[in-house]
Amino acid sequence: MQIQQNVSLKPFNTFGIEANAAHFVSISTIEELKNVLELKNYTNKLLLGGGSNMLLTKDYDGLVIHVNLKGIEIVKEDDDFVYVKAAAGEVWHELVIWCINNDFGGIENLSLIPGNVGTAPIQNIGAYGVELKDIFESCEAMSIDNASIKTFYKEECLFDYRNSVFKQEAKGQFIITTVTLKLTKRNHQLHINYGTIASQLEIMQIENPTIQDISKAVIYIRESKLPNPKEIGNSGSFFKNPIISKNHHNKLLQNFEDIPSYTISDTEVKIPAGWLIEKAGFKGKRFGDYGVHKNQALVLVNYGNAKGSDILKLSELIQKTIERLFEISIEAEVNIL
Ligand code: EPU
Repeated sequence: MQIQQNVSLKPFNTFGIEANAAHFVSISTIEELKNVLELKNYTNKLLLGGGSNMLLTKDYDGLVIHVNLKGIEIVKEDDDFVYVKAAAGEVWHELVIWCINNDFGGIENLSLIPGNVGTAPIQNIGAYGVELKDIFESCEAMSIDNASIKTFYKEECLFDYRNSVFKQEAKGQFIITTVTLKLTKRNHQLHINYGTIASQLEIMQIENPTIQDISKAVIYIRESKLPNPKEIGNSGSFFKNPIISKNHHNKLLQNFEDIPSYTISDTEVKIPAGWLIEKAGFKGKRFGDYGVHKNQALVLVNYGNAKGSDILKLSELIQKTIERLFEISIEAEVNIL
């Protein structure tokens, strides 16, 4: 374990933004993590996993801790279920592939989500009708304060749409070190009714899909809509889909009769922010090195050397325009640093 000075964070954030860390350390064991937390001369510490959910708008003057803990193991199983424990530094999609290859079900709809295992619970990652909470058993996290390890079971994580206790009450207090998932070994419960999965399976001429088929369909859909961060810097959906009252929705329908919505409760609906942004005219707009993706308006992109502050300014312009046109405030999903 070696603390480096003045390190570029460009390879460590999927937006591909150039920003420097005054101090940087990569840890690959729990012992190393403990040792780093005990260092008293760094008051500001920033945790970094896959860097897939953040926008760096300036240099960081403290210590960046890159969590590089590795390992995937089966910790318990019976005839129906298997409990898979993965270390925080594993790449999420590699864990998905490992599970699919072992025919462990439940995780297939979450194929190809960028990022690492340790950050998945923080925002309760989700896609195509499944959220992490649906397969989550527990996670272990180290207290930043005293380096002790605490296990969080599902109920304690207070999972919600792109939200959890780690973004709220426990924010900045813990480092997630492992995540344990509860997956099916047989009688897999398939989720194919969301979005274009069913039509994609039809195109693939698959009538009785396996979890492997669903994973392939999801990968195909994601690759056709979402830019690959290795080619065009991005952080997936930049904003959350807003939830508004049914009354508000009814009012909007008078002017925008094609506005899509998903019922959340008797009184609320969720509106796809991608639709609002497209309707506001931003889809595919490019401003020099940054812009809004041409296939998915919810994704802001860095074409090369964009600054984090440019992307932040664009996001604020989008927010203001949406507020003015629809009286809806959209919230960033990405963490802005
Ligand atoms: N839409 C448009 N124009 C666009 C994009 C979307 O009109 O440019 C409308 C369409 O009506 C479309 C609907 O929005 O049917 C939904 O679009 P999509 O299926 O692409 O999903 P999303 O709501 O934009 C969410 C997640 C994604 C996840 C997909 C699929 C959020 C913030 N985003 O996007 O998650 O992959 O559903 O389940 O909830 C991420 O969080 O980074 C992410 C990529």
